[in-house]
Amino acid sequence: MKVALVTGASSGIGAAIAIAFAEAGWSVMAAGRNEGRLEEVADVSDSISTWAGDLEASDDCDELIADTVDEFGGLDCLVNAAGVLIRGIAEETSDDDWGETIGINLDVPFYLSRAAIPHLIKSEGSIVNIASNWGLKAGERAVAYCASKGGLIMMTRAMAVDHAAEGVRINAICPGGVDTPMLVAETEEKGEDVDEFLDDVASNSPNRRIAAPEDIAGLALFLASDAASHMTGTAIPIDGGLMA
Ligand SMILES: NC(=O)c1ccc[n+]([C@@H]2O[C@H](COP(=O)([O-])OP(=O)(O)OC[C@H]3O[C@@H](n4cnc5c(N)ncnc54)[C@H](OP(=O)(O)O)[C@@H]3O)[C@@H](O)[C@H]2O)c1
Repeated sequence: MKVALVTGASSGIGAAIAIAFAEAGWSVMAAGRNEGRLEEVADVSDSISTWAGDLEASDDCDELIADTVDEFGGLDCLVNAAGVLIRGIAEETSDDDWGETIGINLDVPFYLSRAAIPHLIKSEGSIVNIASNWGLKAGERAVAYCASKGGLIMMTRAMAVDHAAEGVRINAICPGGVDTPMLVAETEEKGEDVDEFLDDVASNSPNRRIAAPEDIAGLALFLASDAASHMTGTAIPIDGGLMA
């Protein structure tokens, strides 16, 4: 059985990816902070194990990779889906906001990838980074987030070039709006109408809809599969035509 480690697996896109991989016959380590929601994800399939903890320092990331390899005997795919979105223009973005955003969205994928690479060389495996279309094209009031996702896309390309000859493939997915807690958090905080907000997001998309987390999971599974064996260093928009 192939083995995937999925971060951000307690919610939204990461949860859908963990479930999609398990349903496709993979063993999955589902990592996140919220133990209750991780257990709900693990209840879907016997192939899902959970790892609960805050990912911040490189030690946490080394431990997560080591625990995954200890439990399953190897690693075939790392999916970096954990992320945060703290809205704001530069003057509204504190040092802590900047640090947290770059930390979870860019530092953690780097630390995990660095620790995973030796195992992925053995398995000729892959990494799938969940970036954003805001890593390709700036969105308003999200300077730290856009910088972190732009960095994640270039990290994907640089690591892909370094490890292609060793058989390790590294790709990024760049979603537009996806119906998850992250997308609606600010609207909920302001007490505004969430359905109206979601309608607005959909109407801005050429195909007039918002992605479901399962749409992103399907692409992640494809990128991890042998069908994508010649794909590395890509940053693929999945956004209903928005980037077009
Ligand atoms: N939703 C969108 O419209 C959209 C669009 C483009 C890209 N993305 C990207 O897709 C990825 C998944 O986002 P989502 O929409 O599914 O968001 P979400 O539902 O808010 O999920 C975020 C996940 O990240 C985890 N996480 C956050 N900080 C963490 C930390 N310090 N340590 C460990 N885990 C942490 C959360 O864990 P807990 O919940 O357990 O705390 C949660 O599982 C993110 O990288 C996001 O930037 C989302």
